[in-house]
Amino acid sequence: MFQSNKEYIDFLIQSGVHTFLKETPNNLLENKELKEKSVKKKDIKALEDIYEINELITLILNHKNILKKTAKKLVLYDGDLQSSLMIIGEAPGQEEDEQGIPFVGRAGQLLNKMLSAINLERKNVYITNVLPWRPPQNRTPTDQEILDFLPFLQKQIEIVKPKFIYLLGTTAAKAILSTPLSLGKLRGQWHEYKSININTPIKVLVSYHPAFLLRSPNYKKDAWSDLQMLEKKINEN
Ligand code: URA
Repeated sequence: MFQSNKEYIDFLIQSGVHTFLKETPNNLLENKELKEKSVKKKDIKALEDIYEINELITLILNHKNILKKTAKKLVLYDGDLQSSLMIIGEAPGQEEDEQGIPFVGRAGQLLNKMLSAINLERKNVYITNVLPWRPPQNRTPTDQEILDFLPFLQKQIEIVKPKFIYLLGTTAAKAILSTPLSLGKLRGQWHEYKSININTPIKVLVSYHPAFLLRSPNYKKDAWSDLQMLEKKINEN
């Protein structure tokens, strides 16, 4: 009845068949956009050979991870790749996941206000997160997830080479300073981030996450004094 397989397949498509049964389940929820962006394995550079953000994006898009299955968009960074200031948050929330841009929700609006209070604009700083994919229901990232994505965050630091890093919240402090100490103990003093791939240690300041400040406005006074410390150091350099 059919002269070729192609003719048969065309007939099926015209009849409304769009999926073949397989031995394993078809993932009908798979994110098409991410799939389209994936490239041939041979074109993906290894992390140690990456010097540009676009190559890193390709690597992360092709890095197997469970969070990618539930997230909508990769959220890597916003702002200026040449900035001397890098701001690191925790992970994308719902709005960030929808737009593919970090800190665009309520916490992001507060972050914008915090920056403008020390005469900075978000377009002039580099903003990123420890995790580039939204954890389901905005849950806190696990230690395993932090470790899994840490090399990508470290690579961003090597690409941007900021002079200062401002860490927002415990997850970012844990990832960059490898410490279990509380924010209360870490804030109010300068720390250093060192890596064999970076010539000069980077000055690091830790402060409260804007989402926490929205829930606990009593801490805004401390956050303001952290911002002033940051402004002073930027102006001295
Ligand atoms: N909280 C974060 O830590 N990062 C975002 O991008 C948004 C909210």
